[in-house]
Amino acid sequence: MESKRYNDLKEIINKSLDSYIDVIYPEKLYESMRYSVLAGGKRLRPVLTLETASIYGAETEKVLPSACAIEMLHCQSLIHDDLPSMDNDDYRRGKLTNHKVYGEAVAILAGDALLSYAPKLIIDKTPKSVASERVIRVLREFFTAAGTDGIISGQIVDIDSEKKQITKETLDYIYEYKTARLFKLAIKAGAILAGAEEDIINKLNMFAQYYGTAFQIYDDILDVTSTFEKIGKTPGKDIKEQKSTYVSMYGLNKAKEQVLFLCRQAYDILKELDINSEILTGVVSDIVKGIDKCF
Ligand code: IPE
Ligand code: IPE
Ligand code: MG
Ligand code: MG
Ligand code: MG
Repeated sequence: MESKRYNDLKEIINKSLDSYIDVIYPEKLYESMRYSVLAGGKRLRPVLTLETASIYGAETEKVLPSACAIEMLHCQSLIHDDLPSMDNDDYRRGKLTNHKVYGEAVAILAGDALLSYAPKLIIDKTPKSVASERVIRVLREFFTAAGTDGIISGQIVDIDSEKKQITKETLDYIYEYKTARLFKLAIKAGAILAGAEEDIINKLNMFAQYYGTAFQIYDDILDVTSTFEKIGKTPGKDIKEQKSTYVSMYGLNKAKEQVLFLCRQAYDILKELDINSEILTGVVSDIVKGIDKCF
């Protein structure tokens, strides 16, 4: 996103991520973790965490460990998503995938390591001035998004749905679990740490549902319409692996319509909450503007 504030927050996140993982023995493990965590990326989820926290009055330092942990979880999901036994991808963020550099065994273990390193970071690094009930609640959201109630179940249904016809319900399940739940975590964590009221947290949860689903359908559209230079990963992979996506089931035009419909719902929630954040509206309008360039 073209915004000074977005770039400033991204810079803070990049510096913190770098400082949170040192290379110690066994070096290969930490190097592999650092390779994927510091490989670039938009840092969308942790920026959303910092921004939501700031809207509801929490200082960045109180939220930074959680924001970075959420990005680590995202990176873990990408390392495993790219494995030969999953989506079998050679490139991510314009660089070779983790297993292409370190081998499959190390890539699997680096992903596993990040999955436990990240919540430990929340416990160890969140300032003591943050009420421990809030920290525990964020941890609960973290485990929800990371595990059987989130990415892992979404990924298993995604893999299971290759090369076959699936129902609309199954398709919705995949989008919700593999993608939207991580956005819910990112946005709610900021609000929880800031002590936002319950009905606000519930509305932000709906915002993340609409935005996260739109984001994944947009990613599926980019897979068909974009280039390696733009997305930093090999396009055309969903067709090659015969993935069941919104695009493969309903076609590009319907997929675009659905993305725009979801983005309108997301904007409506921001309006309802009286949120004027350049970043929250900006991430939605990035999709709306981006999708027009695909057609
Ligand atoms: C990629 O997420 C995975 C999906 C949910 C589609 P991003 O597009 O946010 O990837 P990075 O972090 O910018 O590389
Ligand atoms: C991403 O779905 C969801 C994850 C949990 C990583 P994709 O498989 O479409 O993501 P990309 O296209 O590889 O980034
Ligand atoms: Mg995948
Ligand atoms: Mg993939
Ligand atoms: Mg994709």
